[in-house]
Amino acid sequence: MANRTPLIAGNWKMYKTVSEAVETAGQLKKNVADTAGVDIMIAPTFTAIAAVCDSVKGSNIDVGGQDLFWETEGAYTGQLSPTMLVDVGCRYVIIGHSERRQYFAETDESVNKKIAAAIKTGLIPVMCIGESENQREAGQTFSVLDKQVKKGLKGFFADDLKTLVIAYEPVWAIGTGKTATSTQAQEVHQYLRSLLTEIFDQTFAQSVRILYGGSVKPENVSELMSMPDIDGALVGGASLNADIFSKIVRFQ
Ligand code: 13P
Repeated sequence: MANRTPLIAGNWKMYKTVSEAVETAGQLKKNVADTAGVDIMIAPTFTAIAAVCDSVKGSNIDVGGQDLFWETEGAYTGQLSPTMLVDVGCRYVIIGHSERRQYFAETDESVNKKIAAAIKTGLIPVMCIGESENQREAGQTFSVLDKQVKKGLKGFFADDLKTLVIAYEPVWAIGTGKTATSTQAQEVHQYLRSLLTEIFDQTFAQSVRILYGGSVKPENVSELMSMPDIDGALVGGASLNADIFSKIVRFQ
């Protein structure tokens, strides 16, 4: 079994002014200074990225973007390029979050291009996938994920994807307080690993970190993290408060 360092990531979505973001990051930095054996990432809103990068510099916290565009530069109003994220100090980038798929026309094809651009620039891509409530109820969970993974990772070889992180975020569990049970999440994570074995190979499938996201909180993190194929969490609401998020970082 590959040795996968857990990753606890906070997606701050469209919350916090620059000063609020810097304050939360500073508090988090103090709270988690003594934690080891877990990677920590926060993804502030774009306006706060540079300031948060400065605030956590030299600590055990990494910073990520919440999205990116695949071109390096050009006439693309409103977009940020991978090199711009690297330039301000980002190490990670979240790609294909369900909110971007739902509200901003993100597709598996654009996810695929964004992953390629992230990798080319040295950013660690966190590819988000997940089924809606209707899809789960219709028994389509695995087929939806199958399509998202195959299209999102189309054209890559295992060697290209050494840093890839996958975040399984069932849409019905995001911001709803309805967490998937640890058994439901484990079932999907195990399925994803078998899918990665089929597309690539077993060594690769065993090395990819697969995070769970959707109403993760201090009360359910240890149960989720006890599952063999759950390698961390992508946390929304509960990552906005440094004290609560640091409990999640400690799995408690
Ligand atoms: P919540 O933790 O608020 O459910 O959000 C999950 C999420 O979307 C993280 O990317």
